[in-house]
Parts: sequence; structure tokens; C-alpha cells
Amino acid sequence: ATADIGLVGLAVMGENLVLNLESRGFTVAVHNRTVARIDDFLAGRAQGRRILGGRSAEEFVALLKKPRAIMIMVRAGSAVDDTIELFTPYLEPGDILIDGGNSHYLDTERRASRLADRGLLFVGTGVSGGEEGALNGPSVMPGGHEAAWPHVGPMLQAIAARTPDGTPCCDWVGAGGAGHFVKMVHNGIEYADMQMIGEAYHLMRDVLGLSAPEMSDVFARWNTGRLGSYLIEITANILAKTDDVTGLPLVDLILDTAGQKGTGKWTSEAALTLGVPAATIAEAVFARAISALKDERVAASRVLEGPATSFEGDKDAFLADLELALYASKICSYAQGFALMGGAAREYGWRLDFGRIAHLWREGCIIRAVFLDDIHEAYMEEPRLPSLLLAPFFQRATSEASAAWRRVVSRAVLSGVPVPAFSSALSYFDAYRSAKLPANLLQAQRDYFGAHQYERTDAPRGQFFHTDWTGEGGVTASSTYNV
Ligand code: 6PG
Repeated sequence: ATADIGLVGLAVMGENLVLNLESRGFTVAVHNRTVARIDDFLAGRAQGRRILGGRSAEEFVALLKKPRAIMIMVRAGSAVDDTIELFTPYLEPGDILIDGGNSHYLDTERRASRLADRGLLFVGTGVSGGEEGALNGPSVMPGGHEAAWPHVGPMLQAIAARTPDGTPCCDWVGAGGAGHFVKMVHNGIEYADMQMIGEAYHLMRDVLGLSAPEMSDVFARWNTGRLGSYLIEITANILAKTDDVTGLPLVDLILDTAGQKGTGKWTSEAALTLGVPAATIAEAVFARAISALKDERVAASRVLEGPATSFEGDKDAFLADLELALYASKICSYAQGFALMGGAAREYGWRLDFGRIAHLWREGCIIRAVFLDDIHEAYMEEPRLPSLLLAPFFQRATSEASAAWRRVVSRAVLSGVPVPAFSSALSYFDAYRSAKLPANLLQAQRDYFGAHQYERTDAPRGQFFHTDWTGEGGVTASSTYNV
């Protein structure tokens, strides 16, 4: 046995991770369900490299040095279970299975505990950065059985991207499904980032009437400042691209219906389950859902009226406002994502290091951005920050952006341009900074119709009261449980 690690699943991410591992000096064994793919890979991109093919599960496992480490890069869901079942008969206690796909964190929890019964170490790791990242340096977010880390850590850190100060964008995240949870939240934030960029684009296009090349210049300029990030950079590139056939901006020829593979939805489901407000991320998922109702929207556009307005202000001033609105909204969606990880850490007993997580996302992944350095610093200064919004740096940032942010959301509303992410971020900000919300009325309503009881401002917390609002109710209150 000569291979340091094995990888199963030779789709593009798998192949690129193999090439990355090999380029860092590791010998890699590969396996794929369709065996022809192994031969193609060995005869093609893997030729002349320390990459060995195992055509059967047994042959593949025999190539691996002990403790064996097998990375699984197959589609999330039952294919992961099938792959685990295929190899476990040939494995021994202490061997390691690493799932590098976008698996649901609860599946990872289940797999980790099941494999622990057989003495096998299971690692569920987020891998972000697309094809290019997998080849040259992804962001890697491993969690699961920590006993695996001393063995797989050096390999995963060797292939990962690095922050500007040279720290690998790969570190142990936590037990069970922690790694996949953090990757899921990364994707939820990715959805929100993309939606916000889309809203800025929508406003520039439909309120200011800018052309795609003009917008490309705006995004390229923004990319040199506080919004500097991979997603802003590719947006500038996308808007500059013309169609080979028509010569028109390619973006104008792309149908406005978004797809999704489910990780944004999972993030929103987790937020609802854990009771952590993350409406901006959920709005980004719903925005994709409404975009998919293309035919219905086209029909509705003929009968539902919007406002008739034209923009008469200063375009450059509006663009400056827009940059701040995007920035402040982005701060809110990250605040929601980090709060969600905090909720999960409490629920599942994970010890998540938020400063470190910000640095795992600093390079390599889809949401990589200069802004993650500020998040990193905020958590280094105060690891137990209840919300990112309370970090002094972000207090200043939101306060400086506030007026511009409100002008942009108001303008969008007056112009009839939907801005679900911008406006939900602003509402989140306003709700979070409100000492007094209208939930007193809501509690009264619950008590009125269902005797659900309420706490009083002039009595200790935890003491519950019921009022017979109509004079016709009984004195019996219902219980006060909360889900
Ligand atoms: C990454 C991405 C990736 C994700 C795609 C597609 O971090 O490299 O998040 O994992 O699968 O971006 O996601 P949607 O199809 O849901 O947009």
C-alpha cells in the first residue's frame, strides 16, 4: 500500500481535489462507480502523476496506507450512504472516511454516530471554491470525529487556500455535523450576497437605466473598496461579457429564472428550527423561488400595476448610496449567519470559533472577501459577541451607511423595484436595535383568544398573567410553553 489518501467520485470537484493533493506531494488512490471514468482520468489528466486507480472497492482499499483515509466526493444524499456501505467491509477500526460533498449536517451527525459504532472515524467537511478552488486551493471546513484530525489535517491544510498572512483556510470546526453546518451557512450567506448584488444590479438597470458595460465599471470600482470580493469581481466580469453570436451583453440574453440545489433552503430551515432570525438569507431563497415563476410573472406583469416614476436625481450620488446599502445589508446577512452558527453551537454543544471561521472563508471559497478580515478581528477582540452588529467596527459601519441605506430602500419601494434582501436586512437592523417592539400587542392578542398568558413590564420576568379580556372567559389559562 502506497497511497496517502483515496478519493472516490471522479466528477470535476473530485478530479481537481486529486490533482491538488498530488501536486502537494501526496500519492492518491482513486475510485469511481463507473470504472471507465477511472481509466479515462488515469490516461488523461492524471498521467505521469502519483495517482493510482482502484477498479474495485477491495482493490482501491488495498492501495491505501494505514490508517486509511478515504475522501468521498459524490452527490449528497443516498449516494454517500451507498459509498460508505461499499467500503466499510474492507476497513478496520481507526480508518477514516471523509465526506467532502454538500451533505446535510443532520445526515453527517447520523453517519458519524453510526460509523463510530464500528470504530471508524467520520469527517464531514465543507469544501468551497468550485472547480477552480478544488484545483488550486479551496476553503475546507472539516468536522466530525476529532481523532481523525491529526492524520487528515496536514493533507487538507496542504491543499487549502491561504489567508494573506499565510494561514490555511482549513481548520477543525467541531464535532458531528459542525463542518457541514458551517459550510451550509456559508452557502446561505452566498445566496444572500448574490441576491443583494442582484438587487443593486436591478436598481442600476431599471432605476438609473445603466447599460451592462456601465454597470460592469461600477462593480469593478466597488471591488477595489470595502465590498472587494470574489462575487463582486465576477459580477463585473459577467457584465462586461458579450455574446459571440449577437454581440449583445450576454447577461441580457440569460433567462431570469434561478435554480438552486438546496443549501440555502437548508440554512433557512435550520434558522426556523433553531429560532434564530435569518430572514435575509431566507428572502434570498424565496427570491430564487419567485424568479422561477417566470410564466406567472409575465402574465401578472400585464395586469398588476406598479408606480410610474422616473429618476431625476444625481446618478453618482445614488450609486454612492447603493454601495453603502449593499455593504450595510451584507453586514446584516453575515450577522444572521454567525448568529445561526451560534444557535447551532448552543443546540448541539459545538465549540465554534467564529474568528477562525471568518478566516476559513477569507480565501478559496465563493464568499471570499476583504470584509471577512473585519469579522475576524471583531471576534478576536470579543469572541462572545452576541451579534456582529454590536462589534464597534460594525456599529460605526452601519451608522455611517444608515441614511444612504434608507434612501436606497425608499427609492426602490417608490420605484416598484423589489429589494427583498436590502429591505429585510434593514428591518432586521431596525428590529435588533429596537428596545421596544410591538410584541406586547401580539402577546395580548394571544392571551385574548387563547389564554396564552403574558409577562408584564412591572413584574419579574418569568411570571405569567392572564386577563379575562371579554368578561366571558374563564380564569383557566393555557400553558405557556414555547417551541
Ligand atoms: C461552493 C458553492 C457550491 C454550491 C454551488 C451551487 O461553496 O463552492 O457553494 O458548494 O454547490 O454554489 O449552489 P446552488 O445551486 O444552490 O446555487
